[in-house]
Amino acid sequence: MTKVISFMSQKGGTGKTTLSILTATFLHSIGAGVAVIDADFPQHSFTRTRTKDILDLKEKQGKKQGENLTLVDSQIKPYPVVDATVKEATVALKSMKTSQQLDFILIDIPGTFNVEGIDYLIDSLDLIIVPVELEYKSITAAMETMSMIRSLNPKVSISVVWTKIKRNHKVAERQAYEDYFKSKFNPYIFKYMLLETVRVSQLLNTITPQPESISEFVDEAGTMLLSIEGKTALMN
Ligand SMILES: Nc1ncnc2c1ncn2[C@@H]1O[C@H](COP(=O)(O)OP(=O)(O)O)[C@@H](O)[C@H]1O
Ligand SMILES: [Mg+2]
Repeated sequence: MTKVISFMSQKGGTGKTTLSILTATFLHSIGAGVAVIDADFPQHSFTRTRTKDILDLKEKQGKKQGENLTLVDSQIKPYPVVDATVKEATVALKSMKTSQQLDFILIDIPGTFNVEGIDYLIDSLDLIIVPVELEYKSITAAMETMSMIRSLNPKVSISVVWTKIKRNHKVAERQAYEDYFKSKFNPYIFKYMLLETVRVSQLLNTITPQPESISEFVDEAGTMLLSIEGKTALMN
């Protein structure tokens, strides 16, 4: 069964695209069937990163434009990245699910819910992950995001992941916010935190996985998805 995952936040710049790229590229590198729908119209920063990665790679491998790209090192073809609007994403998702045998489809979306079709899209997701920074505006945006998701779909699993976290952040402050999130929306809160580091943006690549700790995040998300499945099975 294909699992559909999206990072969502009513605020730009929290790390949605970064986490989407890290997660998709890592999953693909360990052999999972992955596809991405870049529904962040019109920025399409996922697609732009992919285009740049392909050009870089072709340059490195001395290939001419238009030639089919095969990674010399791994012989693995890069996973597909498809551009869409949020409205088109639901349709693209349905056809991907039926036409390809995929383990995961990741959908990168804009930092606003004020777009046509967001309600349908939320209905098609298995897991929503809300990235949040440890600062007031981001926390407020995360609360609004969770509230909006709950009003559109009372059943979908919501989780929260801390991003751009400083190693010396105030742990008690973070935990107080976690309690606050739990008291209102009871999301799963990832133990994994994306630490603030300039390396993230420097090394971000949709073809070559980064030597970052993202495997911990993927493991945790996998365990979480299994527990959701368990719950669904019990309900049926
Ligand atoms: N962990 C991190 N540490 C430092 N900078 C980060 C981190 N995650 C993301 N960024 C930077 O923050 C900016 C916004 O990230 P992005 O993933 O594009 O956010 P969004 O998709 O939510 O708008 C980018 O410049 C990105 O490089
Ligand atoms: Mg983005």
